[in-house]
Amino acid sequence: MNIDYPTLAAVIESLAEGETDEIALMATVACEVHHSDARFDWTGFYRVTAPGMMKIGPYQGGHGCLMIPFEKGVCGAAASTGAVQIVADVDAFPGHIACSSTTRSEIVLPVHGQDGRLIGVFDIDSDQPDAFTREDAEGLGAILTSVFGRI
Ligand code: SME
Repeated sequence: MNIDYPTLAAVIESLAEGETDEIALMATVACEVHHSDARFDWTGFYRVTAPGMMKIGPYQGGHGCLMIPFEKGVCGAAASTGAVQIVADVDAFPGHIACSSTTRSEIVLPVHGQDGRLIGVFDIDSDQPDAFTREDAEGLGAILTSVFGRI
């Protein structure tokens, strides 16, 4: 069953209404998105905490690696290129960082603030191969823009 992204976006918008704190917004988005689809086994944020470096933010699921430099992993690729990464098979992605041995596929989206600065990346892992679609990239991208594009 496909996610109803407009409904998920409306739920998140109502929960996040008036909130401008990055961590509070990240925690809310991670929770609502994670519980919206059985494909999602790990859902969370990495925040830019220094030039070229990210640290883990709010997430749902098992253990997440604490720090990711821009030159490493799928998260680093999204941060350094500013482009959404849809990885059908993580074993085929050079430099993939395996925080969990069960992950088979992944999607990572860059997260930008109102002034266009890179706040971090939003990462979802699945234990299913080839789990993510362009529709996911568009639906999740719209949610991230509406929530973080105003802070
Ligand atoms: N797999 C990611 C690292 C984060 S974990 O998935 C939580 C990567 O390659 O960047």
